[in-house]
Amino acid sequence: MTQQGLNGAQTIQTLRWVEGQLEMIDQRVLPARFEYVRYASAAEVAQGIRAMVVRGAPAIGCAAAYGIALEAIALGHLAPTAFAAGLERGFEVLAASRPTAVNLFWALNRMRRIWQAHQQRSVAEIINCLIAEAQEIAAEDVRINRAMGAHGAALLADGARVLTHCNAGALATAGHGTALGVIRSAVEAGKRISVIADETRPFLQGARLTAWEMVQEKIPVTLITDNMAGHLMSRGEIDAVVVGTDRVAANGDVANKIGTYMVAVLAQRHGIPFYVACPLSTIDLTIADGAAIPIEERAADEVTGFRDCQWAAKGVQVRNPAFDVTPFDLVTALITEKGVVPRPDQTRIARLFAVEVPVNL
Ligand code: MRU
Repeated sequence: MTQQGLNGAQTIQTLRWVEGQLEMIDQRVLPARFEYVRYASAAEVAQGIRAMVVRGAPAIGCAAAYGIALEAIALGHLAPTAFAAGLERGFEVLAASRPTAVNLFWALNRMRRIWQAHQQRSVAEIINCLIAEAQEIAAEDVRINRAMGAHGAALLADGARVLTHCNAGALATAGHGTALGVIRSAVEAGKRISVIADETRPFLQGARLTAWEMVQEKIPVTLITDNMAGHLMSRGEIDAVVVGTDRVAANGDVANKIGTYMVAVLAQRHGIPFYVACPLSTIDLTIADGAAIPIEERAADEVTGFRDCQWAAKGVQVRNPAFDVTPFDLVTALITEKGVVPRPDQTRIARLFAVEVPVNL
């Protein structure tokens, strides 16, 4: 493990490839500590994903891709058959790490396609191709986030007060962020944007991560508890909502961090636009609607307390679904790298994939 503070001028590098190993910012200990943890195998990366060292849909996808590259390196001394069997186990262990974010499976499929395309080559050549593909997935993620940011920034007025839920920032991606990427791009374009960050119970991604990212960059941010959003909306203190997503079904239903649905209902009630920043890699055309999106249920102790502090009565029954589904008709627009999709539905989403729009990625 290496340790290092983030100097104000540095950009946040959630994952980095260092001398054939993967380093990831340990998001469990932010903002109290800023540290990188090193990974050398698929099983280690899967454990890092499960434990939330890395989280956020695109970042999980990048981590999984690097996990396959690491596994290939670790198996590099084996004969081709044993190498193939070992790499297959690497795919399995990573696919079992978290169920909701489709970017995980999207990235693994991309790595598998590269492996298959080069299967006739030597093990050493396959390893190099897998490393290059993982690096390209991460680099492409930043380019996509910047494209989404440019499209989304145009939707925010100068002076807008923007509510966001969870963390869809640089920490949830390879850089720039999806929802926070839209905010960053608007600020870069000279707009005065202020952020209202839901704390995001129970894992506190808003309080710990979104607030930290915004403070690092001196973007004005106000932290609220999740149950304060309705009050602020009713007082006219929120102009727009921008969130990220873990999986969008073919009909436009949006799975995102638990509590997002509540925010979308409130936004509709108050006539506030509800935008979802969504790279195409997060759209799952194999799932017809949100009811079929697998929703991760996490450990009870995330709800009964935080770290060493337990506040709930011992013996109480607990539910801890980590995500919820916002029906498509509550979504004002999807912000994608190909452009803004107003009032997304099945037809408009299908069109996104059918039409080849040059995006210069
Ligand atoms: O449980 P997490 O922290 O992985 O959940 C993250 C979210 O719900 C994000 O909003 C989503 O992944 C979009 S990140 C660009």
